[in-house]
Parts: sequence; C-alpha cells; structure tokens
Amino acid sequence: MSEPAPRKRLYIKTYGCQMNVYDSERMADVLAPLGYGVTDSPEDADLVVLNTCHIREKATEKVYSELGQIRRMKAARAEAGADMTIAVAGCVAQAEGEEIMRRQPAVDLVVGPQAYHQLPELIARAHRARGERLAADFAPEEKFDALTVARRPTGVTAFLTVQEGCDKFCTFCVVPYTRGGEWSRPAEAIEAEARALADKGVREVTLLGQNVNAYDGEGGLAALVRRLATIPGLDRIRYTTSHPRDMDDALIAAHAEVEALMPYLHLPVQAGSDKVLKAMNRAHTAESYVRLIEKIRAARPDIAISGDFIVGFPGERDADFEATLQIVREVGYASAFSFKYSRRPGTPAAAMPGQVAEPVKEERLARLQALLDEQQRAFNDAQIGRTLPVLFEKAGRHAGQLVGRSPHLQAVHVSAPERMLGRIVPVRIEGAARNSLAGALELETV
Ligand code: 5AD
Ligand code: SF4
Repeated sequence: MSEPAPRKRLYIKTYGCQMNVYDSERMADVLAPLGYGVTDSPEDADLVVLNTCHIREKATEKVYSELGQIRRMKAARAEAGADMTIAVAGCVAQAEGEEIMRRQPAVDLVVGPQAYHQLPELIARAHRARGERLAADFAPEEKFDALTVARRPTGVTAFLTVQEGCDKFCTFCVVPYTRGGEWSRPAEAIEAEARALADKGVREVTLLGQNVNAYDGEGGLAALVRRLATIPGLDRIRYTTSHPRDMDDALIAAHAEVEALMPYLHLPVQAGSDKVLKAMNRAHTAESYVRLIEKIRAARPDIAISGDFIVGFPGERDADFEATLQIVREVGYASAFSFKYSRRPGTPAAAMPGQVAEPVKEERLARLQALLDEQQRAFNDAQIGRTLPVLFEKAGRHAGQLVGRSPHLQAVHVSAPERMLGRIVPVRIEGAARNSLAGALELETV
C-alpha cells in the first residue's frame, strides 16, 4: 500500500511504559494512511493524542494539566480558522472514561488501550458529530488483527508486543485493573510480524508484555524466543518486563543456549524485606530472588541484571529499607528504576496502615539511587578494555559519530561512518560514564 504524503499533522505525547511507546508507534501507523504525519510541536497539530499511563504518581493530574495547555492551543488555532482534534488514549483513558470529556470539554475522543486501531474511525466520527466517543472495551485479538499490516518500523530496532495484562495483583499496582488479565498473542502472529520487521531491516526486537515471561503460547516464552531466533536477519532478541515467579528453567536455559537472546534481564524485585514483599503480594522472598539470580548467572555469567524498586511502601521501617539496600548489594545491578511508593486509589496498598511520610521516602530514595548509580557506574567501568558487538542504531550528537547498543543494552558512542548504521560491529570500549560507553572501531572493520 502506498501512502499519501502527509497532509495533516499529528502530535503524540507518550507517557509511561514501553508498551505505550509501542502503542504510540502503532497509532502513528494507523493514522498515516489518513494523511497524518508526525510533528514535534503540538501548536501546529491537527490531531493531538495524549497516550497516557497511570501507573505512577499524579499521572491523572498531569494529563489534565497538559490538556489545559492543549485546550489553549486549540482555541488559538480556532481563532486562526484551523481545527485541532484532541484524543486521550491509554490507561488513564481506560480508567477515567467519559469523565475526561466531562472535565475537559475540549477533548474530542477517548480511546482505551485495546481500541486504538479504531482511532481513524473515531476521529472521523468526532469530526462528524460530538456523539458517542468512548471505545475502551475491545478484545486484544481484534486490536492485533487490525494492525498487523500497518507496521512501519523506523529503525533497526523495534518493539513487538507478545503479551498484555497482568494477573499478579501486586498490592501497589493498577495494571491488573487497567490492562486486565494476562493474555498472550498466538506465536504464529508474532512470528509473522517479526519476519515482516526483519524483512524491513530490523535487526533487534524487544518482546513486550506487562508480564512477558508469563507468555503462555506453546512452550512459553522460551519456545517463542527459540522460534524467533531462527528468523534470518533478526540477530538480537530482548524481552521486558518479567516477574520473578515466571522465570522458569526453560527460559533460563534459553539464556545459556540461544545466541540471539541478549545478556540483559529486567527482573524487578521491588523490595528486599520479606515482610514488605509479602504485603506487596509479590509471591517471592528476598532469598528466593537472590537464588534465582544465581541460577540465571550460572547459565549466562555475563548477564546484566536490571530491576525496579519501590521505597516507602506502607509499613516499611528503617530495617526493611536496609534490607532493600542489602539485596541491591548482593545482586549487583547494571541498571535500575526506583520510585517512591505512590498511593493508587482502588489498590489494596492505598488503604494499608503505616503510610510512610514523604520526607522519609525522599531520603530513602536518594540513598537507594546513590547505591544503584554506583553499581551502574561500576558495571559500565568494567567494560573498559573489552571488545563488544555494537548494533549501530542512529547518528550521534557529534558529526561522524554513531550511537549503538551493547549486548547489555548500554548506549555506546563511536566515531564511525554512516554506512555502518544497522550493522553489528566489534567496538573496543575505551570510556564509561553512568549512562553510556565510548568506544572505537576495531581497526580491521574501518
Ligand atoms: N508506586 C510506586 N511505584 C510503582 N510502580 C508500580 N506501581 C507503583 C506505585 N503505586 C513501579 C514498580 C513497577 C514499575 C513499572 O513501576 O516498581 O515495577
Ligand atoms: Fe503490576 Fe505486579 Fe503485575 Fe507488575 S506484576 S504489572 S507490578 S501487578
């Protein structure tokens, strides 16, 4: 299908997780045939989509305040005789529904995470009338079916959703309520999409799912990884996010045996105190998590471990927080995300006694982040002097420079010719900072 040159401008703002980044790409894909091209400035946009997330703090308020600003841009455009359509998509749309349109009448339509393939139709409808605009309840199958042909990758790496939803009900988290129960795509559909991506030059896919390692197609995620690893041109496979309790032996064996499966694992532990882990309903202990990491490292010794942490969960005392620092020391993380606990209405933890004061959370977060930063630096420093295969993804900030990724997902800056984009090239690592590495091409590749 040849697409018309963009006649209309689309501005998408994405909040939150990689699942949303992926969804935003797909929204741009389904809108391109209607003549929408992506712009970076909301002021000039004919269509503004806020792809929201409400996993963390005050996200809903942020969306409303952003909408207030966009409403003013819409008014300014109206004065100049131009239209602007405003759509709210994603988890806040799912959770708040028509309330959004009530609170901010400038919003033209609301679309839940399962229904964005209907955007073109919804937009057409919103243009015609201001009638029924909510489409938040669609089976995920329909969404994927409607979108399998529209994908246009922009680079050499791509996200590929294989699983959605979560049945784990961690007591702090809204995902089981907003994204619904766990659901896996059929392996055939995933393989077809991965082949189409590889045909278009994609070298690396990241398999996405809120609970990606709970993927329940035949043979689980391990079988899916092995299947995708046979696709010519697809040299690198990653997956995120995983839950410790679904990290089975087959997947660990895949880390030892499948060359395309990159040595990087995002495996959130959230906290180091068993009392807190129990209150979080995590279904693992600090000890069982550490044993699991040992097992994974036995299979793939160079694997980079990444994690998520929450400080100040209700009932967390100083000693509990110390246990979090202790598990960080025991595991040694290559990278991590850490958050202050934020009360999500409707989740069990929001109603728990022992809510922790803000300054205490701040102080704990600062201490935890200092330790995690130190570990990230140490992990990066340890690469100096090594030669790593780097997949070049894009031009660097300086002329003559490219940026790629190491197997451990570290950004690597290298002086290299543009023709090396999309290639995996050995790079000698010469320098390290907290968030990236610097290296040079091995002489024989120049
Ligand atoms: N408060 C703080 N952090 C949270 N996360 C999820 N819900 C909350 C919350 N209510 C964090 C967890 C999860 C990551 C995606 O976001 O660490 O792993
Ligand atoms: Fe939320 Fe827990 Fe499910 Fe992750 S595993 S999405 S933190 S409920």
